[in-house]
Amino acid sequence: MTWSDRDRRFMRRALDLAARGDYRTRPNPKVGAVVARGDKVLAEGHHAVSGGPHAEAAALDALPPGAARGATLYVTLEPCGPFAGKRTPPCVERVLASELARVVVAQTDPHPEVGGRSLERLRAAGLRVDVGLLEDAARRLNGPYRKWIKVRRPYVTAKWAMSLDGRIATAEGDSQWISCGASRRAVHRLRGEVDAVLVGVGTALADDPLLTRRGVEGGTPLRVVLDSRARLPLDSRLVRTAREVPLLVATGSEADPERSAALRVAGAEVLSCGAGPRPDPLALLDVLAARDLRHALLEGGGEVAAAFLEADAIDRVLCFVGPRLIGGDGAPGPLRGRGFPRLDDAPRLRHLEARPSGDDVLLEGHLHVY
Ligand SMILES: NC(=O)c1ccc[n+]([C@@H]2O[C@H](COP(=O)([O-])OP(=O)(O)OC[C@H]3O[C@@H](n4cnc5c(N)ncnc54)[C@H](OP(=O)(O)O)[C@@H]3O)[C@@H](O)[C@H]2O)c1
Repeated sequence: MTWSDRDRRFMRRALDLAARGDYRTRPNPKVGAVVARGDKVLAEGHHAVSGGPHAEAAALDALPPGAARGATLYVTLEPCGPFAGKRTPPCVERVLASELARVVVAQTDPHPEVGGRSLERLRAAGLRVDVGLLEDAARRLNGPYRKWIKVRRPYVTAKWAMSLDGRIATAEGDSQWISCGASRRAVHRLRGEVDAVLVGVGTALADDPLLTRRGVEGGTPLRVVLDSRARLPLDSRLVRTAREVPLLVATGSEADPERSAALRVAGAEVLSCGAGPRPDPLALLDVLAARDLRHALLEGGGEVAAAFLEADAIDRVLCFVGPRLIGGDGAPGPLRGRGFPRLDDAPRLRHLEARPSGDDVLLEGHLHVY
């Protein structure tokens, strides 16, 4: 299939509209739609809130009856069909009723009850249906949705802030703040979009973080500390707030029972993840999956991030690069552990993009696209 410049322009616009969807769309995918005739955009829409109108319905509803006749719909995800448990009318019928001539779809819906069926229905009704325009970008936008359907494990975004010379703290352990205020606000927005925020006990001890979302709207992610021996201090801010904001301490199999009991009394949940002395990243993700938590934000530090990378459990990396040079042999980088001895074995990120974030640069890259 060769796509025209016009097709690309309208699908790019539909993707931009899709990206407007925020935490309120969860657990639904982010979807955008454009209705166009020739070069002219007739209507636009995006999915804004779970249970609310889908993108294509929002766009078509903005038009008077009959106005979309013979036009083209660009939509970033296959329209939904009539399946069980749906809260909104099936979009495929809405599209048919609009008497469009053509539908351009970025990606089929991996949902087992859709999975190409809506496209067949549209084709059977005589519409021209073209699939796969900017598909990779559309898939990346909905990593958590697609991974959940395909793998049933939470999507993992690893995030760190580093200096231009690749340090996440000074040799003395000072790390606040490497990134600027705008980047830290972006992290709070991110926390509001994910279901869980994860750190290692090294970070909990060094920084005494709260790991809550603050100053922006969003959800309340579960706070998780990977802490083999349950040594998280009872007077840490995480434990002191455990009765208000849920806290899970993921331990290894040999955690001290007394320490675990004390954390539980303080309001934290303590759970051994896996059979080894340290909590196993994949076992922890399965624990989160069993609670229907679909997107985890791994906020460091370097040892825990390396454990996730070695388990091939990181899907996306967000790296805020601050304009500082820290230096020092003892200043840690974002990934510790053994590292990969050969460059050929070192994971390669795909679709690396850079954009400004206040005074910093945000780098985004993907290890898995679902
Ligand atoms: N700039 C940034 O973006 C950023 C972000 C986070 C942290 N930091 C900085 O990074 C430093 C802390 O990093 P860190 O590498 O020392 O600590 P870390 O990765 O936060 O925690 C490491 C500890 O986690 C425990 N752990 C539990 N399960 C593990 C597993 N499966 N694999 C590996 N470790 C596991 C281990 O202790 P046990 O075995 O005793 O449980 C380990 O020593 C601090 O200076 C902090 O300020 C910077």
